[in-house]
Amino acid sequence: MNKYLAYIRGQFLPLGYEEFFACMEAENIKYRTEFSENQIILLESAGNPSKAASRCAFLHSLLKVVAIGNVDESISITNDYRLDEIEKNKSFCVRANRIGKKQTRISRVEIERDLGSHIYKKFENKYLNVNLTNPDYQFYAIIHNKKFYLGLKLWSVDRETYRKREPSQRPSFRPGSMKTDFARALVNLSRVREGDIFYDPFCGGGGFLIESSILGAYSLGSDISAEAVLSAAKNLKKFSEGDFAIIRSDSRKSIIRKADAIATDPPYAIQSSTHGKQVKDLLHDFLLESKTILEPGRYLVFGSPKRIEPEKIVKKVGYEIVSMIDARIHKSLTRRIMVVK
Ligand SMILES: C[S@@+](CC[C@H](N)C(=O)[O-])C[C@H]1O[C@@H](n2cnc3c(N)ncnc32)[C@H](O)[C@@H]1O
Repeated sequence: MNKYLAYIRGQFLPLGYEEFFACMEAENIKYRTEFSENQIILLESAGNPSKAASRCAFLHSLLKVVAIGNVDESISITNDYRLDEIEKNKSFCVRANRIGKKQTRISRVEIERDLGSHIYKKFENKYLNVNLTNPDYQFYAIIHNKKFYLGLKLWSVDRETYRKREPSQRPSFRPGSMKTDFARALVNLSRVREGDIFYDPFCGGGGFLIESSILGAYSLGSDISAEAVLSAAKNLKKFSEGDFAIIRSDSRKSIIRKADAIATDPPYAIQSSTHGKQVKDLLHDFLLESKTILEPGRYLVFGSPKRIEPEKIVKKVGYEIVSMIDARIHKSLTRRIMVVK
């Protein structure tokens, strides 16, 4: 068993935690959580969580824990862990990152230096050199509540790859499109796996389909608007990394008959149209229809304005609520993300 630390950053922390756990489930990685709070998830696993981490949009980095300890006036190590993958004659550096207010007397630079000398001694027989600009191994120390968690960085997010797929960067822009990191997170919450059939019944410009196709799913989209179907097709042509199909269909009576995972963003009647229907009625009828499409035991995820209380509609239709996450988008919109089975 190894210890890992998942570090989440940004303004949507609850979504970040849920997304990481969903990806661990999707990738079938067994683990035990020690705690998840204050931007940190500390877990034990016999598997390697890197594949799950690398598909997350809201995770900042994944560390394999090397040491845990206390830090106030000086550093004291309370737990030391093995790390067999370090090779001989390589270089390393240590960076420290403080979460929350400064609570320690010792400075960040001193922490980096002291933990650097710990690493140096720990791997004495590996003859490691310090290299601050281009090291072979990057160690991160996360400091929180007078404790530190020192780990080898296995993965960290590259925001640029998300930026390149933002709605404004796509060949066909549609108003009301969700930001790419949000779209990825909702697709992840559906626990979609490589080779699955993924379905977005309100696909708009195809943002969710782009993300599911990058994850290796066969991506099916439908929309009642012919313009949206054309727009999604253009965008998928540019960004998809696998097979996809987009058709014109009403999500309340869909042509699609089978899906392993569904994630979608139905219209809120703000920027995108409900085509004359009440938001609540449209949601109800779509959820009822989706029950005939979604494989048993699999997940459906959707976003909706909190004020319409989507959980009541979900219960009425007979789905089980797995999680409910609120994300404040702006003054007049809190998006409620529902994960149901
Ligand atoms: C919020 S947008 C989806 C945006 C999309 N997730 C994206 O990021 O580009 C909602 C879409 O639902 C479509 N729509 C409205 N009523 C529909 C219905 N009954 N069946 C299918 N699509 C519908 C609209 O045409 C619109 O494209």
